[in-house]
Amino acid sequence: MTQNVQAVEAAIDSALKAIADASDLDQLKQVKIEHVGDKSEIAKASQSLGKMAPEERAEFGKVVGAAKGRVNAAYEARLIELERERDERVLVEERVDVTLPVKKVSAGGLHPLTVLTNEISDLFIGLGYRVAEGPEMESEWLNFDALNIPADHPARTMQDTFFVEPLSAKLVMRTHTSPVQIRTMLESQPPIYVICPGRTYRADELDATHTPVFSQVEGLVIDRGITMADLKGTLDHFAQAMFGPDVKTRLRPSFFPFTEPSAEVDFFFNGRWVEWGGCGMVNQKVLRAAGIDTDEFSGFAFGMGLERTLMVRHGITDMHDIVEGDIRFTQQFGMGA
Ligand code: DAH
Repeated sequence: MTQNVQAVEAAIDSALKAIADASDLDQLKQVKIEHVGDKSEIAKASQSLGKMAPEERAEFGKVVGAAKGRVNAAYEARLIELERERDERVLVEERVDVTLPVKKVSAGGLHPLTVLTNEISDLFIGLGYRVAEGPEMESEWLNFDALNIPADHPARTMQDTFFVEPLSAKLVMRTHTSPVQIRTMLESQPPIYVICPGRTYRADELDATHTPVFSQVEGLVIDRGITMADLKGTLDHFAQAMFGPDVKTRLRPSFFPFTEPSAEVDFFFNGRWVEWGGCGMVNQKVLRAAGIDTDEFSGFAFGMGLERTLMVRHGITDMHDIVEGDIRFTQQFGMGA
């Protein structure tokens, strides 16, 4: 009995010492297995109670119970202490300096011409049009002949047009988006409602208002009973979507080989008339060249420059800003709608 009591006391001493010596939670976990858990000396003493005579058991039971109580209390107290230490350390080690400058992640932006193109496409898709595209390197026939532009037309000189070598291939960098009209009429049957935005090329020097690579948007409608009134209404709707609900348009008589009658379209913006583009009823010669029955169908077409539209709408005064791709310019337009 005395021996047993001494053993328990020794077990308490070594358990308390081990608990006090545990310097972190991992060590304390080990100590728990050895000195507090089922395999500890005190647990073994507790198990031996079963074999003892009742009197002895009562007495030794108290000793073991007290021992368990002391060791458990010491263990719990140390656990709390070490957890607090760990929490304090983590707070220091994982501290975040919220005053540090942030790393700038650039969100990027679509080029304003892309934003505008998307906007125009969406507008016309909403009216039941489809978006048509054609190649930027185009056959001379589609760029000029099929559009009734004669061989001696001034636009067909080297001065205005980029011809692609070898010249015998009869290829040009398209000078307007109008050849997409012909492609569309050759590929599909009326009724036709298309919008054709795209890049176009002319032998100009880059300056504040010109660029040799520019963009246009072409509209083409071929259906039964189409008149100038439909053209005017469509242009009004287009202009209002671009420049605001109060904007007015006007048509001025003009000449284009591929439309008859032809007109220039202007819009009234910020107190002045601004030239926007060309338009008219598609010339019957063009319709016939594209295999369309002119007894049944008529149509209108229009074409305008996107850079000009953008410049007027946003008060951009220098074409260089649009062409040079400076991200500080582009970002002002964001990602668009
Ligand atoms: N293609 C002409 C140009 O580049 C613009 C134009 C005028 C397009 C009249 C049209 C139109 O569709 O009907 O100058």
